[in-house]
Amino acid sequence: MAITTLHEFIMDRQADFKYASGELSRLLSDIAIASKVVSKDVRRAGLMEDILGAHGSTNVQGEEQQKLDVIADERFISMFKAGGEVCGIASEENDDFMPFDSEFSQKGKYVVLFDPLDGSSNIDVNVSIGTIFSIYRRKSEIGTKATLEDMLQCGDEQIAAGYVLYGSSTMLVYTTGKGVNGFTLDPSIGEFCLSHPNMKMPETGRMYAMNEGNINICESGIKDYIETYCQQTLEGASRPYSGRYIGSLVADFHRNLIKGGIYIYPDTTTDPEGKLRLLYECNPLAFIAEQAGGLATTGRHRVMALQPTRLHQRIPFFVGSKKMVEQAMSFLK
Ligand code: AHG
Ligand code: MN
Ligand code: MN
Repeated sequence: MAITTLHEFIMDRQADFKYASGELSRLLSDIAIASKVVSKDVRRAGLMEDILGAHGSTNVQGEEQQKLDVIADERFISMFKAGGEVCGIASEENDDFMPFDSEFSQKGKYVVLFDPLDGSSNIDVNVSIGTIFSIYRRKSEIGTKATLEDMLQCGDEQIAAGYVLYGSSTMLVYTTGKGVNGFTLDPSIGEFCLSHPNMKMPETGRMYAMNEGNINICESGIKDYIETYCQQTLEGASRPYSGRYIGSLVADFHRNLIKGGIYIYPDTTTDPEGKLRLLYECNPLAFIAEQAGGLATTGRHRVMALQPTRLHQRIPFFVGSKKMVEQAMSFLK
């Protein structure tokens, strides 16, 4: 069987891209390299005291940082600084966005917004985690310092987005707005190889993912949806939907992308704006969902149409199979 490596695929598709000049291709390749390094860290975490466990610090959002959150953040940032395509980044683990100082980096056309490790509460227990990223063209002039405006672009402006899932295998899934393709890391050759071409999210499915511990602290429509829809035997089905909640958004999303399903993280009385971050988690996954035929909303509005107002902005998030997301939305007033 002929194998297509990620690198070959990126090169072949370069011409599809509006401003093809090779920089985006190089940036995507750099992300793949950094993620192979992080994948190696993740695979050995249980053996290495300097990798596993809490870092002893909290991020700007008051969440305890794990050592691997910080390691992954540093690995990606060093790669972006060395590559020359990126003039600045924003990440969940840094208080503020980071414009790169060197003249070399300031010539970069792109900014990357990312969640270096998603699902970090799962690191210590050997459950799937991932990296989520989003790429935009800068708004500021090339050759100057990246600005906040470069970072606060609406999701519809994304040039590319993707995630790397450190699951039972390591997979990289990405889109540049021309469909979604998935690559599995073959550890024997150290290459991502095309394993899931042209991924499509089933229009509907039979799995729902929500932290149901929150059921009584979110709006009543959510409870109605879960209890009267997901947990009942409806539409001639022989049994109710199956609940599947990993607690790593990227892993729940990936399963739903392949099998069909819905992921919900609504606003609650404890997280009145929702929990998930618009720029690092919701927009990139929304881009992939839509490119695969799925849907991503706040329960009321399309995610990618939102104009971000703050770097670490959170929103309620409903993502997955189109019909299932529409159904869930119909329960909200
Ligand atoms: P992160 O590890 O990057 O902070 O993100 C965790 C997110 C998401 O991955 C997950 O689905 C959700 O938070 C879990 O939250 P609960 O523990 O509140 O269910
Ligand atoms: Mn996350
Ligand atoms: Mn994270």
